[in-house]
Amino acid sequence: MTEIERTEVHRIPAAPARTASYEADPNEVGRVLLLYSGGLDTSVMLKWIQDEYGAEVVCLTVNLGQPGEDYDVVKGKALQLGAIDCHVVDAREQFAQEFLVPAIKANAVYGNGYPLFTALGRPLIAQLAVDYARQSGCDTIAHGCTGKGNDQVRIETTIATLAPELKVIAPVRSWQMGREEEIAYAREHGIPVKGGTEVAPYSIDDNLWGRSSEGRWIEDLSHAPEDDVFQLVTRPEEAPDEAEVVTVSFEAGVPVALNGERLGLVELLERVAEIGCRHGVGIIDHIEDRIVGLKVRDIYEVPAAAIVLAAHLELEKLVGTIHQNQFKPALDQKWGYLVYAGLWWEPLRTDLDAYMDAVNAQVTGTIGLKLFKGSVRVVTRESPNAVYDATLASFAESGGLFSQTASPGFIELWSLQSRLAHQLRNRV
Ligand code: ARG
Repeated sequence: MTEIERTEVHRIPAAPARTASYEADPNEVGRVLLLYSGGLDTSVMLKWIQDEYGAEVVCLTVNLGQPGEDYDVVKGKALQLGAIDCHVVDAREQFAQEFLVPAIKANAVYGNGYPLFTALGRPLIAQLAVDYARQSGCDTIAHGCTGKGNDQVRIETTIATLAPELKVIAPVRSWQMGREEEIAYAREHGIPVKGGTEVAPYSIDDNLWGRSSEGRWIEDLSHAPEDDVFQLVTRPEEAPDEAEVVTVSFEAGVPVALNGERLGLVELLERVAEIGCRHGVGIIDHIEDRIVGLKVRDIYEVPAAAIVLAAHLELEKLVGTIHQNQFKPALDQKWGYLVYAGLWWEPLRTDLDAYMDAVNAQVTGTIGLKLFKGSVRVVTRESPNAVYDATLASFAESGGLFSQTASPGFIELWSLQSRLAHQLRNRV
């Protein structure tokens, strides 16, 4: 080892080991932008960061359409717990236009059922954290994700990608307090703890596009869902006995009208969700392969996504050729996986978007869906771009572009290789 290398080595401060370059050095944390929900974890963090790092904390609370949230209360709580400021940002419109529209165009679903609402929300939340951290003179961003989930990957990937100058702390991942200790800490530090403390609540995440519950009995794979988990969607057995038909209209792949009424996207999605909730639509009991290796069970309630994605897929199939329709699902799946895996900023995602946009240029029309006790079934389809000709498809009509007498010739050539191969394999 040379003299220079040796002095370098000795200069490393006695701080806790940092694994990644973007993790904060505790000695260099001056002002922290905290992603604040108002819940137990982030409220404890708000105090803990002030005590542990001697740092100032600016809070950011992002509204992505999570129902039943009182942002004045959240902000009041942040200020009361010592935040020097608390920004509440209504990002519903941006979330819908910049994240949900591409997701709809890509029929985005992960693992055969999860419409990615959390995965789509995280890059936006982290992007806003970067903006507000810069505006508020923060050097560090803090979030409340655990070390076991995908959300830490999505948030830290975004920060490290967009703002290499900012550092990250993830106290829940390192402080090793369990729920009991967090409650004790909260009590000691005058942090209000809402609800009873006997039963741990489900771990909830929600926005315009859906809601997830994790924890408690959900971790027991043999345990069927208990009724109290469904806070959004009516249980199908309690849904109305009368079916309801809704129509969703699209222009170039974007939902623009509900039952013939033109609506802004946020309002449209909120109204679709309401109707879906009433009919018990969009309950998904899902085992998921997380990016961080674990398999985890989630209970999802996705009333808006269940209806809008079903309508979009149907319309897309109607306007696409057989070749497009066979090809696109593979790209849809890749798109969904990139987003699930926290790689929203990966150029391949935007490359794929170019393809999605090209296909969706034709996706204009209206799909009718019948909702009944948890089921969604397409019943009507209309599009000026449908690759469909009623006279060709009709049993009664003939002639025109389609000559039935040409069919045997086609069949002879179409089946040629398969016939030869079959005969070769069966010769005696
Ligand atoms: N399993 C889903 C995902 O990885 C939902 C995660 C919900 N996040 C939460 N913090 N509760 O996207």
